[in-house]
Amino acid sequence: MTNQPTTELHPGSREGSDIVLRTIGLTKRFGQLEAVKNLDLEVRRGEVFGFLGPNGAGKSTTVGMILGLIAPSGGSIELFGRRLDDNQWAALRRIGAVVEAPAFYPYLSGQDNLEALARAIGGIPRARIAEVLERVSLQDRAADRYGHYSMGMKQRLGIASTLLRDPELIVLDEPASGLDPAGTKEVRDLIPRLAHEGRALFLCSHLLHEVEQVCDRVAIIKEGVMLACAPVHELLAQGQTLQIKVDDPAQAVAILSGLPWINSVKMENDHLIVSAPEESTSRVNAALAEHGIFASELVSHGVSLESVFLQLTGGESGD
Ligand SMILES: Nc1ncnc2c1ncn2[C@@H]1O[C@H](COP(=O)(O)OP(=O)(O)OP(=O)(O)O)[C@@H](O)[C@H]1O
Ligand SMILES: [Mg+2]
Repeated sequence: MTNQPTTELHPGSREGSDIVLRTIGLTKRFGQLEAVKNLDLEVRRGEVFGFLGPNGAGKSTTVGMILGLIAPSGGSIELFGRRLDDNQWAALRRIGAVVEAPAFYPYLSGQDNLEALARAIGGIPRARIAEVLERVSLQDRAADRYGHYSMGMKQRLGIASTLLRDPELIVLDEPASGLDPAGTKEVRDLIPRLAHEGRALFLCSHLLHEVEQVCDRVAIIKEGVMLACAPVHELLAQGQTLQIKVDDPAQAVAILSGLPWINSVKMENDHLIVSAPEESTSRVNAALAEHGIFASELVSHGVSLESVFLQLTGGESGD
């Protein structure tokens, strides 16, 4: 297997900007229902951007607008630095998307399916097919019928098909839905590799644990409204929860509440529940000790993206 990236064609930027996709005030109404409200997003070259939200949050509607399949009711979309409505076909040629279970011929092999697709697209060199099959580690199963592929292999063939045109932006709507843990891992391992080649990946997903592992930044939406957009590590750093037991909780609350870097402090039974930045456990301990308060118990409950998501969306994980 060669590790040579296939995207040396576009290291860095063609337009002098790393922003591949931008939405400005993007809005979609279906009758009375506002499915996407005033959405501002920026997705950059080389990053995996996770677009998260419970069922019906507006993720696929947003993807449909980005791909020119759904007309926005308001706002605008810029792809590669230009407005989508001014240059839709040129922009869409630089995007690869798997928006639902990809449709292939079940009786043809993976290879033959890609060859048929390449002929339909036109201008794809023959060598490119072997190259993309190798990129998704299907080279050894290329001659097998698509209908006999596992779900994970089907998804990877879908991703391979998007790579035929060497896209700069890859949009995947729920790429791991219906996959077992092994299939999910196959897709999860592939996604960052594609981004590191200089592409941007826009990934809609419910699988928060997966997203936490592969995404550089995430946006969380609910009912069409963006609730948060930040690097994953920043979101995770928002809310380490410490459970602390001390002899004088009232004084401990007063001390910790006065520290600007503490997010919140509350009493729960005889424990303090402190929301503090990641890796600040020893700082919290030291702040109390400075005032002669020594914790008899100090337990850190780490934060997962899932807990941040549940906190922001009010308990709907969508899973
Ligand atoms: N063509 C349409 N006509 C009317 N309403 C629609 C249409 N498409 C989507 N909607 C509504 O818009 C809202 C957002 O739907 P969307 O499919 O974008 O959500 P989603 O975040 O992709 O959800 P899921 O996680 O279930 O895929 C939903 O309330 C949905 O019922
Ligand atoms: Mg959807």
